[in-house]
Amino acid sequence: MKNLFDIKDNVVVITGGTGVLGRAIAIHLADQGAKVVIMGRKAEVGNAIVEEIKENGGEAMFLVTDVMNREILEQNLADILAAYGRVDALLNAAGGNMPGATVAPTGTFFDLKIEEFQRVLDLNLTGTVLPTQVFLKPMVEQNKGAIVNFSSMAAFRPMTRVCGYAAAKAGISNFTAYMATEVAKKFGEGIRVNAIAPGFFLTEQNRSLLTNPDGSWTQRGEDVIRQTPFGRMGRAEELCGTIQYLISEAASFVTGTVAVVDGGFNTYAM
Ligand SMILES: NC(=O)c1ccc[n+]([C@@H]2O[C@H](COP(=O)([O-])OP(=O)(O)OC[C@H]3O[C@@H](n4cnc5c(N)ncnc54)[C@H](O)[C@@H]3O)[C@@H](O)[C@H]2O)c1
Repeated sequence: MKNLFDIKDNVVVITGGTGVLGRAIAIHLADQGAKVVIMGRKAEVGNAIVEEIKENGGEAMFLVTDVMNREILEQNLADILAAYGRVDALLNAAGGNMPGATVAPTGTFFDLKIEEFQRVLDLNLTGTVLPTQVFLKPMVEQNKGAIVNFSSMAAFRPMTRVCGYAAAKAGISNFTAYMATEVAKKFGEGIRVNAIAPGFFLTEQNRSLLTNPDGSWTQRGEDVIRQTPFGRMGRAEELCGTIQYLISEAASFVTGTVAVVDGGFNTYAM
């Protein structure tokens, strides 16, 4: 019987693959038989993930990248095509926040540093648009491809403090919908564009907002848990099934959606 979720031998590129979520996703997809390209800034971390995948019999490679640099991305694509000959999926997982793009509890909107606000927009939004421009090309030639962008709860409901990040992630949800139509109309139904909106997962980008130096929850961390019907943060592994679904045949009629994986955070009113 055909396995609709089969991704064996699919070449999957993950920007931000060295991050906490990217790493868990890379390991899962490799375990399912995908050839995984981990792209990030930290070679040591990336190479360690590749080692781990290979020790478990999987196939992976690491490439240093900067999602805001077209030249580097074009070189990444050339390296991937030389190694694997195609690109089946792109996961735009690189992203993050910066202190100056947030408003501290004791501060006001006037304290927002516009340069850091712009850098957060650039990293998250432009850092999704630019890799899409580069990696869409082989997908068009193959007439097959799936793109998954990384949105956030902050895109649905802007939260206190994270002004720049919320604006960038709302832009990513909007870009996802835009691109779904754009590629379907111009290149047909072989290429699909969706997004995932993780709830709260403790990673490097939010550790200082959600935990104190001793590892206990901050007030904000506790607020998140209280606002989540499951009463906890997510585990990185809990994103893997949704990602696999979105890049597989099982989602062949699914494009332009934002898949929420949040333990109920987004629907909880009281
Ligand atoms: N952790 C959460 O709760 C959560 C919730 C919603 C969305 N997200 C999103 O999920 C994605 C993965 O984040 P994470 O939580 O694993 O955080 P993380 O900080 O562990 O990983 C982010 C990765 O992006 C990389 N990166 C940063 N700038 C880059 C650049 N210019 N070029 C290439 N790579 C760059 C970092 O080196 C890091 O490896 C991000 O887009 C994040 O915004 C996370």
